[in-house]
Amino acid sequence: MKKLPGKLIVFEGVEGCGKTTQSQLLSKYFYDNQIDHLLVREPGGTETGEQIRSILLHSEELNGLSELFLLSAARQILISQKVIPALKSGKIVISDRFYFSSLAYQGHARGIDESVILNLSEIASLEIYPDIAFLIDISTSQSFNRKINDKKDRFERESSDFHNSVRNGYLSIAKSDKNLWRIIEGNKNISEVHEEIILLLNEKLSLSS
Ligand code: TYD
Repeated sequence: MKKLPGKLIVFEGVEGCGKTTQSQLLSKYFYDNQIDHLLVREPGGTETGEQIRSILLHSEELNGLSELFLLSAARQILISQKVIPALKSGKIVISDRFYFSSLAYQGHARGIDESVILNLSEIASLEIYPDIAFLIDISTSQSFNRKINDKKDRFERESSDFHNSVRNGYLSIAKSDKNLWRIIEGNKNISEVHEEIILLLNEKLSLSS
């Protein structure tokens, strides 16, 4: 694991759990408190990464393994181009998803062997590991209700069994490393979740402006 001056904060969860809203709120909180930071998302966050994202969300030719290769390529580009330089300069990086998404989606839900995903993810992540990870947990039915009016991508069109596997995958990943993970009940209102995140962050990391 590489030790760099900055800190990496990761948000994970099923579709519609609110992790994108919470990543953005945290970014605004840092901005308001003049804390130097960078907000990125996976898959995406770079020009090539955003192109790969579009293939991942819409191509009908992919399976679990080809998803994993594409995700790993996007991840490697993002980590090398954006995340490592920011961490080197002492910034806090907020990442909306990280390779735990691959463990939950391509591993638990699509059935790819965990060791294959871990090996590939460690290579793609260039020894970068988060300082804290938040799992925003909601039930599959809440997830479906929140996405009801949106145009659905390939992952969102998957069955409730698939999304249950993703959720259970996340819960077992989070429970296996209590030092890294904070599980947050996502069924609360947006500002309550945000306040809980700030509290937990201040407990775990000493954030100074
Ligand atoms: P995201 O933009 O977080 O979707 P949403 O905002 O709708 O929750 O992520 C896009 C999709 O990519 C999401 O359905 C999960 C999927 N994904 C994987 O399957 N594996 C991965 O490793 C990552 C990073 C994302």
